[in-house]
Amino acid sequence: MSDIYNALFADMKDAAALTEEYISLTFGDPDSDICEVAEAMKYSLFAGGKRIRPYIVLSFCRLFGGKDEAALPFAAALEMIHTFSLIHDDLPCMDNDDLRRGKPTNHKVYGEATALLVGDALALRAFGTAADNPHVSPEIALSAVKALSLAAAERGMVGGQIMDMYGESHPLSLDKLKKLQKLKTGALIEASARLGAFAAGVTEEDERMLKAMEYAGGIGLAFQITDDILDVTGDEAILGKPIGSDAENSKSTFLTHMTIEEAQHYAHELTEKAKGAISGYKGCESLMALADYLLTRRS
Ligand code: IPE
Ligand code: IPE
Ligand code: MG
Ligand code: MG
Ligand code: MG
Repeated sequence: MSDIYNALFADMKDAAALTEEYISLTFGDPDSDICEVAEAMKYSLFAGGKRIRPYIVLSFCRLFGGKDEAALPFAAALEMIHTFSLIHDDLPCMDNDDLRRGKPTNHKVYGEATALLVGDALALRAFGTAADNPHVSPEIALSAVKALSLAAAERGMVGGQIMDMYGESHPLSLDKLKKLQKLKTGALIEASARLGAFAAGVTEEDERMLKAMEYAGGIGLAFQITDDILDVTGDEAILGKPIGSDAENSKSTFLTHMTIEEAQHYAHELTEKAKGAISGYKGCESLMALADYLLTRRS
């Protein structure tokens, strides 16, 4: 197993470096009038982070025979939306957290108003970044932008965040909680797989897209279950964000409904099913290893 993980970590590191290089290029020449917002955007974008979503974009593109150049604008866009969601998630009006990716949260360093605008800028910039992809057809770029918009907005991540806040003051059934998690975290993970497949020219009706969605849906939910578990059992220094934030905010999480062992078992089941969806494709090893690693991760 450790050889498989070593190969995975090396591959993830390369994919992260490619994505970060691409994101850096999107900033262009410095402008002294807006330098604070640009600096604050870079602060959160380059604070670390596992870069799971860009890795999924690149891996699905490769799995289905596409080239990295076609996937990178999509990978960068996903990471921008994800980073915006984290900056806003940490604000005092939401989870009110002071630590993210091992550093003080954006609003702690730059103030709430700038953090709000940094999130806005990252979210809005993501669409231009995805659209500006000369390595795919205009039709594919348009499909990617539409999919990204759907995954990020009220029927995706933002909708999940709304349900998450509602869950602070209302008990949520397990089914509602699954819907919440599928939206708040699963939507961007599914979008990562979808945009990776698009970059390889795979269309919505293709059997490969169905399998990619089955995989991403499963690991997306397992990812959030593990996130809920780490909020209780994690080590802040390794995790890079506060422990106990969910309890402090009276969140409804998987641990409201299950013991840690039951939640781990459920995440494991989802992961095995997710792996099964893509196990028939040649070159699936990295995505299989990723699914396993996400279950055992400590950060
Ligand atoms: C954290 O996402 C927020 C959730 C959706 C649970 P990640 O665990 O991917 O955060 P980074 O990007 O590695 O910081
Ligand atoms: C937030 O979920 C997911 C987002 C849409 C940002 P959490 O609030 O559980 O994420 P963490 O634990 O702060 O990273
Ligand atoms: Mg939250
Ligand atoms: Mg949070
Ligand atoms: Mg959490």
